[in-house]
Amino acid sequence: MATRSTLPRPMPDHAATDLTHEQRIREQERARIARDLHDELGAQLVGIGMALGQLREQLSAGGETGSALGQADYARELLAQAHQSMDQIIDDLRPPIVEFGLVDALAWQCRQVTRQSGLPCSLDSPSALPLEDEFVVLSLLRIAREALNNAVRHAQASQIDVKLTLANGTLLLVIADNGIGFAPQAAHRQGRGLRNMRQRAQALGASLALERGGSKGSEGGSSIVLRMPVPL
Ligand SMILES: Nc1ncnc2c1ncn2[C@@H]1O[C@H](COP(=O)(O)OP(=O)(O)OP(=O)(O)O)[C@@H](O)[C@H]1O
Ligand SMILES: [Mg+2]
Repeated sequence: MATRSTLPRPMPDHAATDLTHEQRIREQERARIARDLHDELGAQLVGIGMALGQLREQLSAGGETGSALGQADYARELLAQAHQSMDQIIDDLRPPIVEFGLVDALAWQCRQVTRQSGLPCSLDSPSALPLEDEFVVLSLLRIAREALNNAVRHAQASQIDVKLTLANGTLLLVIADNGIGFAPQAAHRQGRGLRNMRQRAQALGASLALERGGSKGSEGGSSIVLRMPVPL
């Protein structure tokens, strides 16, 4: 039987407090912009879509078959693209899935990776791990997202495994691949991705390590390992 446990906000150490505060404020601001985009721009796009639909019907009823009808159809295509772009921006600002908690958010992210890249991505986790703090869920999702994107872009892997466990007061999140492994200089020549991951981990009071060896049964590969103390 799956044990349901609540996961309160981890205590950041003293040095990370400012960073945590700054990132919390930033995430709140991003969430506000995502909400405004959805509620205001989203509603306006729906309104434009309805007006265009009526316009098209009137043109068609008036016997129009030529370029005016074509223009109306083109405008509807552009509108659909604008809607897609808006959804993508909202998702970048604050993925709506975070409301459902960490396990569902990671499962969704794995499916996205497979859909977009064709790479199988498995998730091994407890069936539920209630997180009360959206900032923690969002930070862990963003870290996992970057690690998964890196595995897709750099690892030449054929499998990615995400593992989530909570034991002895520590939440462990591992994103492993069976690819070529980190080049020795890669950890030093960090791009934005690794740097952001470290900062997010620090703001959670967590540690983040790059480890050799990846997916089960693979000789090479690499893993991103995050350990976050969770008060019992
Ligand atoms: N799973 C992986 N397997 C092999 N190498 C990796 C993996 N993840 C990252 N790397 C290496 O580490 C480097 C740094 O990664 P990082 O995410 O910081 O930057 P990036 O992905 O190159 O660029 P950015 O994330 O800023 O778009 C990568 O360029 C790549 O060489
Ligand atoms: Mg990257």
